[in-house]
Amino acid sequence: MTLSPVPFFDLTRQFASMEEEVLQAVVPLFRAQQFILGEPVASFEEAFSKTLGVGRAVGVSSGTEALVLALLASGLRPGGGVLVPSFTFFASASAVVLAGGVPIFVDVEKESFLLTPEIVEGFLSTETMVDAHGGRRTRRGEIPVSGILPVHLYGRMVDMESLSRVAKHHGLFVVEDACQSVGATFRGLPPGAYSQAVAYSFFPTKNLGGAGDAGMVTTHDSAIFEHLLRLRVHGSRRRYEHEEMGTNARIDALQARVLSVKLPRLALWTRRRREIAQAYNRAFEGIAGLRTPEGSDERAGSLFEHVFHQYTLRVEGEGVRDRLRGALTDRAIGSEVYYPIPLHRQKAFSGNPTIHGPLAVSEGLSREVLSLPVFPELREEEQARVIDAVREFFSP
Ligand SMILES: Cc1ncc(COP(=O)(O)O)c(C=O)c1O
Repeated sequence: MTLSPVPFFDLTRQFASMEEEVLQAVVPLFRAQQFILGEPVASFEEAFSKTLGVGRAVGVSSGTEALVLALLASGLRPGGGVLVPSFTFFASASAVVLAGGVPIFVDVEKESFLLTPEIVEGFLSTETMVDAHGGRRTRRGEIPVSGILPVHLYGRMVDMESLSRVAKHHGLFVVEDACQSVGATFRGLPPGAYSQAVAYSFFPTKNLGGAGDAGMVTTHDSAIFEHLLRLRVHGSRRRYEHEEMGTNARIDALQARVLSVKLPRLALWTRRRREIAQAYNRAFEGIAGLRTPEGSDERAGSLFEHVFHQYTLRVEGEGVRDRLRGALTDRAIGSEVYYPIPLHRQKAFSGNPTIHGPLAVSEGLSREVLSLPVFPELREEEQARVIDAVREFFSP
């Protein structure tokens, strides 16, 4: 008997639940041939800002562009150093390069997978850094550190209150990468409360995903808001008057319409993701060598609300993660490794002048993490199969 696959995610199920509404939302734009900015974008920006309580919102063409524009509008100057975790998606750090800065890779905390204020403090109080490839030691002063880019990985937020204290003390700006964390909170506050700007991605598989690429920058600072509006349209607010260098990074009106249909469903989808995560956590409790993610469950209390963009396990022991993944694949169960190579080891950053320390945690995590299916439409019987397969692997 061949088992039906348990998909890692299946967007067709989500679309089936709202097909009519999505089509009705976009057809008028085709009829009017209205695709650039205008009411669809303005109303989505307003709805996003109000629903999530995140300040002013500027729709852009992707999460990557959101990061680039957020960095530029927050004051990154050419050659400025920005502290970025090595354990994240490529774009968190490529955006720094694209914005003219220098990513400086720092480690993350093993349990949360996140950058912490202590890690940043530790870095800022060290006088030397180690070259990514040649072992050259560099005085910190050679690359002026101008900002911090914390990443709210997998749907869990960094402690922004404490991090912003460190940033203020050292005169650094903070741009948050919330591309995986729409709807997440820390002490009841969403991203943006303690930073210059926040970047979101609406890549189709994100918790709030478009029908293509799209993103958003949010800010509570009105000067940064105005700057973002210029940057996304060729440095211009009035037609053919270009005040500064800018680019074309507008969100599509079609994407804004699709996302407007999906936004009111986000809270429900997030609740479902959390339920699935909690069921996994209960099922895996006490398995030796398997670390489950903390998040909005009984143990974590109300400190933070994890939105479980990914449900990511840490599988300890040499090669055990890959064997577990193999066992899941044998049972036709989807899983993913986010991310198998830390950024300081990526060829694209080989010209990057500095890292700090050996980045041991990032290295270790790339060998230990495994993400299980957690999308809202995952069926109970499918989740039961995932649970059985993981349990059997550890006690055959
Ligand atoms: C942490 C993180 N940063 C940045 C991005 C870039 O977003 P996009 O794919 O919309 O450009 C993504 C998503 O792909 C991400 O997960």
